[in-house]
Amino acid sequence: MPGLTIGDTIPDLEAETTQGKIKLHQFCSDSWTILFSHPGDFTPVCTTELGKMAEYAKEFNQRGVKLLGLSCDDIQSHNEWIKDIEAFTPGCKVSYPIMSDPRKEIIKKLNMVDPDEKDSSGSNLPSRALHIVGPDLKVKLSFLYPATTGRNMDEVLRVVESLQKASKFKIATPANWNPGDPCVIQPSVTDQQAKDMFSQGFETKDLPSGKNYLRFTKV
Ligand code: BEZ
Repeated sequence: MPGLTIGDTIPDLEAETTQGKIKLHQFCSDSWTILFSHPGDFTPVCTTELGKMAEYAKEFNQRGVKLLGLSCDDIQSHNEWIKDIEAFTPGCKVSYPIMSDPRKEIIKKLNMVDPDEKDSSGSNLPSRALHIVGPDLKVKLSFLYPATTGRNMDEVLRVVESLQKASKFKIATPANWNPGDPCVIQPSVTDQQAKDMFSQGFETKDLPSGKNYLRFTKV
């Protein structure tokens, strides 16, 4: 995935959205942001995804995370489409802005282009890309799904929780971790430092190597 990736600062783009013009740095600074793109308006999987995002918006807001969608079609089309999204997912309100990108410049700058999907004129469409951006405007995590695979918003919420915990404590989250499960202590932390950092204690797994690197704690 060439272009914008983990650790990069997002570009300071200007964009038209369903809630007016935004400057990306101003929009994203001082909070976490999920930037997520869709192949196009009035397409089936996208309609389900935007409804699910709207349903989960409260969960993201409670964690200090803003949502910002993108589909290349124009704002008038987005506003018409929102009526379908809200009708398909009853009770949901698309309260987050959706960018438009009629010249398909933003999707290139944000590394959201799907190399396989083309519109009727042969130009590239966005993939189901999703970047989680930290308050420092750097990309912390990226997903890139093809048009045929809808995203799982429980997974998006799970990785937000992992990223936010790892930004507060010197921990990482193991395979299949879910919020509330024990975390592992980062390898750079010595046992003495771990004793000072984690007053609740930690458990070191006995392994055949005899190396004490698999240490679990709850944070
Ligand atoms: C969809 O959103 O349903 C979709 C868009 C492009 C290709 C396949 C599916």
